[in-house]
Amino acid sequence: MRDMGRFLQNFGEKTVKMIYFDKNRNTFYLEGKSFSYVFSVEEGYLHARHFGGRVGRDGLTWLNGAPAMAFSAMPPAGEGSTSLDVMPQEYASFGQGDYRTPSVLLEREDGQTASRFFYLSHEVGCTSDFGALPHARGGQTLKVTLKDVLSDVELDLFYTVWEDCDVLTRHAVIRNTGSEPVTICRAYSFCLDLPADRYETLCLHGHHCGERSPERTPLSHGTFRIESARGASSHQMNPFLALLRAGCGEETGECYGVELVYSGSFVLSAERSQTEGVRVQGGINALNFCWSLAAGEDFVTPEAALCYSKEGLGGLSRSLADFLRLHVISPKWAFAPRPVVLNSWEAVYFDFDEAKLLSLIDGAARTGADTFVLDDGWFGCRGDDTTSLGDWRVNLSKLKGGIAPLAARCRKHNMKFGLWFEPEMVSEKSELYRAHPDWAIGAPPRCACRNQYVLDFSRPEVVEYVYGQLAEILKTGDVAYVKWDMNRHLTEFWSKGLPAGRQGELAHRHILGVYTLARRLTEDFPEVLFEGCSGGGGRFDAGMLYYFPQIWTSDNTDAYARAKIQYGTSFAYPMSAMSCHISASPNHQTGRSTPFSSRAHIASLGATGFELNPAALSEEELEMAREHVRTYREMQPLVLQGDLYRLASPFEGDFAVLLLSKDKREGYLVGMCGLVEAGAYDRRLRLAGLREDFVYEIPALGIVARGDTLLHAGVLLPRLPDFGTFAWRIHGK
Ligand code: GLA
Repeated sequence: MRDMGRFLQNFGEKTVKMIYFDKNRNTFYLEGKSFSYVFSVEEGYLHARHFGGRVGRDGLTWLNGAPAMAFSAMPPAGEGSTSLDVMPQEYASFGQGDYRTPSVLLEREDGQTASRFFYLSHEVGCTSDFGALPHARGGQTLKVTLKDVLSDVELDLFYTVWEDCDVLTRHAVIRNTGSEPVTICRAYSFCLDLPADRYETLCLHGHHCGERSPERTPLSHGTFRIESARGASSHQMNPFLALLRAGCGEETGECYGVELVYSGSFVLSAERSQTEGVRVQGGINALNFCWSLAAGEDFVTPEAALCYSKEGLGGLSRSLADFLRLHVISPKWAFAPRPVVLNSWEAVYFDFDEAKLLSLIDGAARTGADTFVLDDGWFGCRGDDTTSLGDWRVNLSKLKGGIAPLAARCRKHNMKFGLWFEPEMVSEKSELYRAHPDWAIGAPPRCACRNQYVLDFSRPEVVEYVYGQLAEILKTGDVAYVKWDMNRHLTEFWSKGLPAGRQGELAHRHILGVYTLARRLTEDFPEVLFEGCSGGGGRFDAGMLYYFPQIWTSDNTDAYARAKIQYGTSFAYPMSAMSCHISASPNHQTGRSTPFSSRAHIASLGATGFELNPAALSEEELEMAREHVRTYREMQPLVLQGDLYRLASPFEGDFAVLLLSKDKREGYLVGMCGLVEAGAYDRRLRLAGLREDFVYEIPALGIVARGDTLLHAGVLLPRLPDFGTFAWRIHGK
């Protein structure tokens, strides 16, 4: 084992504080802001000991349980005295008597699949080469290298901690040190074996126009699994999973959260075994995944963020929000005021020409918006969704002067101009498809979806071509904002660029290609703000947030529906990551009518903007729009930097959230009360997060009261018309 003293001196006090190795007990301690993560090397195996509240560096060997249960297989003579079937592990291998789900499954040339990984060495203060894979920035990293005693494969397990947040990230690197190729059938990012307890799971499921509904269920024996096999993280299931210990609530109790820094097909699972312990793990979905690792090559898994909270789900969400803002989202944008956008989609859809857009821009200026974004329909000969994806040249029959006059009109109003792209797609009716039919994933006849195919980004020449097309337009300097959409999922899963036998690499190689393009464009055009989108919030994940600081939360812009979607999204992502626009009433997706103020209040809980035609607004509504923008600019620091407290769930009735500054002096409380009921009773809303000893003023209610009064006694919810909302500023000192 390496002498840690040398490393600790090199990395100073911080390293000593955050990553510590006790060489007498062969035990690692990783210490974030308020948690400890402890594991040790025992008879060569990595034995997980603790993830939770801060503990002393005491070895924890007394927690070793019985070495086996009936029907447990023991390691071969001389290679361990505990069955892997009962040992809590850091990364589980296959075929060694641990019958829980393995973290890694490798197949060698002769067909053998068993592996047994032993500790080889470790290093503190190292970095990892992620290529274009998104990952958290900074922190202190521990690398533990293991060696498969049955094959020429090495495994690096990476752990990173930060002193300013309660998140630890993990990923693995698999290295073929032999002379024959090895097939990776599964390579998860992490394995977290939690001790016996009764747990519940919380996942964020959904569909197009109804993303990220929280669902909480008791964890039964067997395996609870959430996944996407769509080639994208998806509307249907988000790559986030929480495990709640008994008694965990919104602001009290213990829970864990895992989220993948990955945007492709994924799996996250929680397996309750015969020991009553729970194995949580996940990463790239093993379905249809298979990677041939040649001699000398390595394979890097996506990163997973693991979070522990002793302040319930609210604490978990705040820690994840801090982690994403501090270490994942680009530092250039994470805390920067966001543009207030007027987007053309729900205003005019495909139906526009230059004159119509110029007057839309004039209208946008009257709302107080500072950026106009031209959505779908400006390129090729696109007049509807049947053609032209892939032909990223201006549709001159619609826009005779191209983009320049639109950008110029924006400049005249002191506004910026933005443009919609769908870089990963091609229409069958397009010049690109005619020239390169084999650039689409799969072979004809392909499944159709919105009349388009997915371009094969596993092929570097395809990524290069699309880069060239987009860069050509961005080089003009007219475009300050890009909305990057993705409106269908993968099918067929076959690439002409890959040999038979390696097609299982396609989905992961494709998303690596997407990241490569995102990296090149964001690096080459650093002043452009890229907003992510996938039929609304179909790719709302930490991987996308690494490149795109905000994401269009949902194609459903109805205020009542959005309150739910944004509430659900807040379990795992910061408010500043959610793009939220005021749209028309009646709403285009639900047909529901809501007051302008309700739409404005709900749209203020994120990166705000408009998704409507200002020409359809009355003078009074236009004034409300301007007032919305003024108020938003004042309270935007709370969206960007503040903490979120969920006070009431729209899935159970009323909706209320409080955004609170870190110093707890400024707050913004927004709520909605659904449908009016005759004879309704008065309902109290208890606040959260306030300092007990501060005196707070809520001017809208004429209340001046101590924090503890508002926390424990609360206020009354106002009586409002159907779908009415309230938004109150709170000042404390
Ligand atoms: C997706 C997006 C919408 C809009 C349309 C355009 O559905 O989520 O906001 O851009 O595509 O086709």
